[in-house]
Amino acid sequence: MTGRLDGTTAVVTGASSGIGNATARALAAEGARVALFARRRDKLEDLAREIGGHAEVHEVDVTDADAVREAIDSVARDHGGIDVLVNNAGYGTMDPASEADLSEWRTMVDVNLNGVLATTHAAVGHLSKAASGARGIADVVTVSSVAGRTVTGPGSNVYAATKHAVGAFSEALRQELAPQHVRVGLVEPGLVDTELTNTGRQNAPDASSASEMGVLEADDIADAIVYIVTRPPRTAINEVLVRPVEQTR
Ligand SMILES: NC(=O)c1ccc[n+]([C@@H]2O[C@H](COP(=O)([O-])OP(=O)(O)OC[C@H]3O[C@@H](n4cnc5c(N)ncnc54)[C@H](OP(=O)(O)O)[C@@H]3O)[C@@H](O)[C@H]2O)c1
Repeated sequence: MTGRLDGTTAVVTGASSGIGNATARALAAEGARVALFARRRDKLEDLAREIGGHAEVHEVDVTDADAVREAIDSVARDHGGIDVLVNNAGYGTMDPASEADLSEWRTMVDVNLNGVLATTHAAVGHLSKAASGARGIADVVTVSSVAGRTVTGPGSNVYAATKHAVGAFSEALRQELAPQHVRVGLVEPGLVDTELTNTGRQNAPDASSASEMGVLEADDIADAIVYIVTRPPRTAINEVLVRPVEQTR
């Protein structure tokens, strides 16, 4: 069977669980070689084994810009380039400002914003180079959130701030890279059942409280990402908002 991404190389950050795990599987099922980035090596190794020969593990903390650049450069060197970057790694807490721990706020900024900046900065030259090659196109897809479009409640303060920031960054990047045929897309999930929402961490976004309206599965978001990166080279899907059907905010 031929896949729509045969011969391509994709980097997925936050591939050790949730949306990143599902996205790596979905991209590999389309024929992409997938470079799996996250901190939990054991989870990445399990996933790489399940995917098979077309996956490789990179134990990387996205807040460490030097480590990110080293890993991105090694992927490009080993596989002749990078065609797809999925900026997915993320973290969230929902404490109101009067109770919040400043270190949690800093972690959100470091992972959700600075991590996206470090990874994109390291990959952008490789993506431009890939787009000028035979395939003629390359993609950056960043996983934002409904909270990147609207402030969903007082507790979403810093999480929403980081996601609004990556939205602004993505739009500027889109304007810069469009002439080079590097497409820039933003995916904005509503509530998805993942470790971020279902492990009962205090003041994390909570999928269980929303069970009556249903929640998305990680595969729903992976589908959107595969859709974006498999469009014909003339077509750029720049923004996709995906909510559970009854989610109103
Ligand atoms: N679940 C939702 O309802 C929802 C809704 C909207 C948007 N999102 C966004 O979707 C993305 C994925 O989240 P998820 O829901 O799939 O949650 P998840 O299952 O908790 O996955 C988060 C991923 O990010 C990685 N990560 C966290 N900090 C990292 C760091 N410093 N360096 C490298 N990797 C790091 C984690 O891997 P390690 O711990 O192994 O490093 C994990 O693979 C996030 O950007 C999140 O904001 C989620």
